[in-house]
Amino acid sequence: MTRTVYVNGDYLPDHEAKVSIFDRGFLMADAVYEVTSVLDGKLIDFDGHAVRLKRSLDELDMAEPCSKEELLEIHRELVRRNGIEEGLVYLQVTRGSDGDRDFVFPAADTPPTLVLFTQSKPGLADNPAARKGAKIISIDDIRWGRRDIKTVQLLYPSMGKMMAKAAGADDAWMIEDGHVTEGTSNNAYFVKNGTIVTRPLSKDILHGITRKAVLRLAEEAQMQVEERLFTIDEAKAADEAFTTSASAFVMPVVEIDGVALGEGVPGPVATRLREIYIEESRKAAI
Ligand code: PDD
Repeated sequence: MTRTVYVNGDYLPDHEAKVSIFDRGFLMADAVYEVTSVLDGKLIDFDGHAVRLKRSLDELDMAEPCSKEELLEIHRELVRRNGIEEGLVYLQVTRGSDGDRDFVFPAADTPPTLVLFTQSKPGLADNPAARKGAKIISIDDIRWGRRDIKTVQLLYPSMGKMMAKAAGADDAWMIEDGHVTEGTSNNAYFVKNGTIVTRPLSKDILHGITRKAVLRLAEEAQMQVEERLFTIDEAKAADEAFTTSASAFVMPVVEIDGVALGEGVPGPVATRLREIYIEESRKAAI
């Protein structure tokens, strides 16, 4: 089925959308992105994603392609044109192209490239995978040092997913200096004796928009939250674990490196947080 996508001001059928081969996003991964989920045809936490996008652009001295209001309008128009009830809107901004390859950034007035497309994901909220829970493996974190900037350098996370698949698992958590950083495309948590533990924000991890919302909702529900470094052995010995992301919300983790957590089924904290998060997100969606 043809999708309507957005490229630099135009809504086009996907097969007609074109970006230059000299675009720095393509040649140098000189680009940032956002993924915003859609429930009931509405955007979840658009504001959070817009604020993080601006931060990513600022950190890389990249120009803003348009205003936040225009971005919202483009998101809504794509959701409408593609009839998305549940799914995702992917947005990417690159430093554009001045028609050649050079390590030096092009002139500051080179227009950035802005691309958006939708992905229809029926069953995003009522996801059978969340009822089963995910199996994860641990791998070394060999990514660059600015993981707080949401760049499109996703080769290693993509390899991590393949390593997980090869090991019969669903995903991987990454480890640096003996501590878990995050999942390949999500933030990581474990629960022990009712306390939720997750790594504090720094340049080492992406500042998840879902993480922020889930930690707020956990505190509102009187759950204990501890933001500190943790090891994979602590997570393996936990009562339960989970991940958060815009594309999977709260996803229970039932196995780490072949070790079943608790009863080996989604735990009560992750299950409850998933319910609360989806419920509250639906209410606040725009
Ligand atoms: N990934 N950590 C990493 C490395 C991520 O790639 C993501 C999101 C997150 C969670 O962030 P948020 O809650 O804002 O989605 C954490 C997106 C979904 C992706 O690459 O598709």
